[in-house]
Amino acid sequence: MEKREFKYEGKAKKVYLTDQEGYYWIEYKDDATAFNGEKRGQILDKGIVNNRLSATFFKALEQEGVPTHFVELLNDREQIVRSLDMLPLEVVVRNVAAGSLAKRIGAEEGYVLSQPVVELYYKDDALGDPLVNESHIAAMGWAKAEDVAEVQAMGLKVNSVLRAIMAKAGIELIDFKLEFGKYNGKIYLGDEISPDTCRFWDMVTREKLDKDRFRRDLGQVEEAYLEVYRRVKEVLGDA
Ligand code: TMP
Repeated sequence: MEKREFKYEGKAKKVYLTDQEGYYWIEYKDDATAFNGEKRGQILDKGIVNNRLSATFFKALEQEGVPTHFVELLNDREQIVRSLDMLPLEVVVRNVAAGSLAKRIGAEEGYVLSQPVVELYYKDDALGDPLVNESHIAAMGWAKAEDVAEVQAMGLKVNSVLRAIMAKAGIELIDFKLEFGKYNGKIYLGDEISPDTCRFWDMVTREKLDKDRFRRDLGQVEEAYLEVYRRVKEVLGDA
């Protein structure tokens, strides 16, 4: 496949067209943002870790029957994906209260939930991605009810697959965010799965090994990303 014209630049990735209709050429950047773009910085080699880790997770999920946009890993920072027509939703799955949920429900960060929690957010930067429910989505026509039900079920499936992989790597999967889109009428998992979009805690020490180190200025950010990559590679090998 050949890289063609630049299409779009997001906060963490650049998207290019390819010579084949229906496929994008994605480039992962080291740029990091938090709090809806208010905090900005760089995490050295984050693009490499997130590109390689996402590819590895997508492959493992495909093997477990979750359709993903991933097609081929090209090199350290680039991969080919299917060009999905994205649903304007973020699906967050949580096993342990942290971040915005801990604040919203008054739970201590680290409180173990008795069952996974699935949340829906409306993707809109100007609104700061508000938490919404199925009836908001139906009333506003943001997605069909059957598609919302499907992405919620896929979110739970991704949770059980990822949780098992991370447990083998000695890492507790606290929560994560997914984005989905359609391709030829079928729903696929898109975007990325990385320390940018998940909370990972060391199972023994509960040390944070994810983007909270950047969000909260905890230091050792690059080291945490590399540590997650190293441990997942031990479990799954390379993509
Ligand atoms: P939250 O606790 O801030 O709502 O975040 C829940 C999970 O979603 C956490 O793993 C980080 C991830 N996330 C993103 O990937 N992008 C975002 O913009 C936000 C707010 C969270």
